Amino acid sequence: MNGRNTPIGRIIMSVLRTPQPEEAAVLSDLCLRSKAIWGYDEAFLEACRPALTLTADDWTDSDLQVATDGERIVGLAQVRGSGNHVELDKLFIEPEARAAGIGRRLFDWCVAAARRRGATVMTIDADPGAADFYRRMGAVDDGVVASSVIPGRFLPRLKVDLGSGTTA
Ligand SMILES: CC(C)(COP(=O)(O)OP(=O)(O)OC[C@H]1O[C@@H](n2cnc3c(N)ncnc32)[C@H](O)[C@@H]1OP(=O)(O)O)[C@@H](O)C(=O)NCCC(=O)NCCS
Repeated sequence: MNGRNTPIGRIIMSVLRTPQPEEAAVLSDLCLRSKAIWGYDEAFLEACRPALTLTADDWTDSDLQVATDGERIVGLAQVRGSGNHVELDKLFIEPEARAAGIGRRLFDWCVAAARRRGATVMTIDADPGAADFYRRMGAVDDGVVASSVIPGRFLPRLKVDLGSGTTA
């Protein structure tokens, strides 16, 4: 548990837990609201919707974790893949719960989940707005990758070396 002031001035005491498949719709809505903070238009967000929609498969082929503020879910993280290389697939914080340290806590959970999966490298195909957050977390740039949503759009790829036991 931790507590830090958010931009709206309220301290959030977040607790991490594994979500349930019944919460898929709530989590998908959270992802879309969170993505929208970067000022994307409706058409772009609609194009992103399939990629941000969780289904029952997410509970069988990936690791999921949510941060809660009381009964409310305020953040989601997802790690998928096996072998040496896994991917941080989702990290989304409820807009009014940003800047409270929840992103860092869920990022640290992703690193631990990646290690549990036996990986030595975790990659992140980042929203451009979030790339500096990942750099702040110790991730390093590893080129760019074509967006699966918008043809011709490229995203920064970052990676975390897990082999050394640090996130640097
Ligand atoms: C990016 C995101 C996950 C950060 O989560 P957060 O809970 O606001 O971040 P935290 O409060 O844990 O911040 C941890 C540190 O990162 C810094 N940080 C946070 N967002 C940052 C950003 N966009 N750029 C640079 N630094 C950032 C904070 O200042 C803090 O620094 P500190 O170590 O000096 O205290 C959140 O803004 C978000 O959900 N964004 C919208 C969705 C999105 O784009 N997700 C990523 C998809 S790839």
